[in-house]
Amino acid sequence: MTDLNISAEDFQKFREFFYRKTGIQFEPAKRYFVDKRLQERIHATGSENFRSYFSLLRFETSGEELQHLTNLMTVNETYFFREEYQFKCLVNSIMPEIIASKKDNSPLRIWVMPSSSGEEAYSIAIYLLEFWADIKHWDVEIIASDIDTNILAHACKGLYSQRSVQDLPARLLQRHFQRSPAGYQISEDLRQSVDFTRVNLSERADTRCYRNFDVIFCRNLLIYFDDISRKTAAETFYDAMKPGGFICLGHSESMSRISSLYKVRKFPEAIVYQKPMEAR
Ligand SMILES: C[S@@+](CC[C@H](N)C(=O)[O-])C[C@H]1O[C@@H](n2cnc3c(N)ncnc32)[C@H](O)[C@@H]1O
Repeated sequence: MTDLNISAEDFQKFREFFYRKTGIQFEPAKRYFVDKRLQERIHATGSENFRSYFSLLRFETSGEELQHLTNLMTVNETYFFREEYQFKCLVNSIMPEIIASKKDNSPLRIWVMPSSSGEEAYSIAIYLLEFWADIKHWDVEIIASDIDTNILAHACKGLYSQRSVQDLPARLLQRHFQRSPAGYQISEDLRQSVDFTRVNLSERADTRCYRNFDVIFCRNLLIYFDDISRKTAAETFYDAMKPGGFICLGHSESMSRISSLYKVRKFPEAIVYQKPMEAR
């Protein structure tokens, strides 16, 4: 018989383990949410109890079960044109400043981390196409990453619900999506314009090869981190950016409280953070 009981001590052990692996901090108030998902996986893996499941989680070399569980634990809320003022800032202020100081015609690189189901990365692609006249002179690479492999599969597919697209102007919805009984399918061109990759922001080995970005969007992730993992994330982004690169955070997140590495830039549309030009 499977024992699905998870004691306060088990919860604490799991919480510390998951925090070390992902940077995500579960407060005691999240106990019900966490227990439910752990119980689901104890059952699905045929483990006898929490203890045997926890051993599997820690010692399985493939990391497959940890990925299954992570996919269940993440909060993937997102939608098209969320916090649109930052996309306005991107096309009106950030991109013009970047190209003004650019010394070659190498591609402009944008990293959307975390991407969830892709709405943010595709919104950026739509915004650049629709509202940035200089797009015709530049190659733009958009790389979008997340820790959750299920949500990345959704992002690659590009099929969205009415709720996801409800903030898009009708004109843009019509131009870039095809309506089907299953939902709104994003155009093939847009789908091809974003590269989706699995990355754990809290894992140095995963982020090491992400370099030379002009702009990073890291919105609505740091709220799930504690101060230590926020600081590590700020340093990771710093290393991933070109000197003079910009980072946009979610509206309730602030870099000034996390790290002094960045300059605060107050543009008419939004406050964003910049890696100093003179930095290496
Ligand atoms: C609330 S969504 C934010 C999506 C989008 N940036 C937005 O603002 O609409 C948070 C995402 O962070 C991802 N996530 C959580 N921990 C992560 C980590 N350590 N590395 C990468 N992604 C992570 C989750 O899988 C989830 O899809």
